[in-house]
Amino acid sequence: MIIVTGGAGFIGANFIREWLKYENEAITTLDKLTYAGNMENLADVIDNPHHAFIHGDIADKKIVTKLIERCRPRAIINFAAETHVDRSIVEPTPFLKTNVEGTCTLLDAALAYWRQLSPSEQTNFRFIQISTDEVFGSLGKNDPSATEENPYLPNSPYAASKAAADHYVRAYHHTYGLPTIITHCTNNFGPYQFPEKLIPLMILNTLQDKPLPIYGDGQNIRNWLYVDDHCEALRLVLARGVASQVYNIAGEDSLTNIDLVKLLCAILDKKLARKTPSYNNIRFIEDRPGHDRRYSLDITKIKNELGWTPKGSFKEKLEKTIEWYLENERWLTHVQTGEYRQWIEKHYHS
Ligand code: NAD
Ligand code: TYD
Repeated sequence: MIIVTGGAGFIGANFIREWLKYENEAITTLDKLTYAGNMENLADVIDNPHHAFIHGDIADKKIVTKLIERCRPRAIINFAAETHVDRSIVEPTPFLKTNVEGTCTLLDAALAYWRQLSPSEQTNFRFIQISTDEVFGSLGKNDPSATEENPYLPNSPYAASKAAADHYVRAYHHTYGLPTIITHCTNNFGPYQFPEKLIPLMILNTLQDKPLPIYGDGQNIRNWLYVDDHCEALRLVLARGVASQVYNIAGEDSLTNIDLVKLLCAILDKKLARKTPSYNNIRFIEDRPGHDRRYSLDITKIKNELGWTPKGSFKEKLEKTIEWYLENERWLTHVQTGEYRQWIEKHYHS
């Protein structure tokens, strides 16, 4: 049995689906169902006998301790987080609460449980922390990609909270011997991503013929990782990753935001047989405060040590992603209208 936190969010939900497809082992999800948690992301796995869903906060010591004691997991993967940089700029405190205090609470409960295990169970146990490229700060255009050894230079409140969490994870290994692993990934894309993030937001706005807001000059560079590639890498890290180690996970392609949005528009126009080009809707707006110019991760370590590389072409994966949103407009509409919250209303407030 493994426990994942944040499984009703974008990456967590994709991971659970991948896990149930490829692994013959039960998985339990703990999720607070914040605005980013969407039970519709888990609709097709909710009745799977190998999957259980628990509604709760990773910062709630009682819930977390009880869950770990009951499930007796061989691993915990911490996806749960407040994840949107723009929200962290408006209101940093929830990022401190979940990303730092929540991770600490989870580590504490994991440590108490781990101490009761037999020596072989202790050796095999893993606490995997899902971190981000953003903790390494902004790179210049010609800087080499960040390796696992780069110094931490977080710039946004989101990045600062993720960096703090990473330091706690590392310290729990160093001080208590808890077998932890930290993974850093680049910008993920794929199905079930909340349409506040660049790719799903641009798809939604194009479908509704709304303006496509580009921050600043649009020359900020992000590396793009298809969520299935990420999930495959995480399964490998869990299977063969070495305790105490850090692994970078990234896609092959890095693009400026403006190039990415233009590519998205071109694919959408073709699929929707649009006569007026969607890129006419692009609007350059005021830049995000402290906007990091470039993120890029060196993935030599995971390639050499675990044999993982991202597969297939970026354009094909982007097309596949766009197709998913076109085929699942109902999912998008439910997020927009708030109908996706009905699951919580039905289960907790009726
Ligand atoms: P998301 O915002 O889509 O989902 C986050 C999930 O965590 C939601 O289901 C939410 O309900 C849950 N959650 C939030 N606070 C919680 C709490 N206190 N207790 C329990 N559950 C809680 O996020 P995502 O994009 O799937 O990201 C998953 C992880 O990957 C995060 O740790 C994020 O920092 C990291 N990451 C994401 C990206 C990306 O491009 N999406 C890139 C790098 C790193
Ligand atoms: P985002 O998806 O929020 O991810 P992150 O900030 O974690 O990288 O943004 C990706 C890039 O797109 C980032 O450089 C900010 C930019 N962006 C826009 O230009 N317009 C938008 O409406 C959004 C949401 C992001």
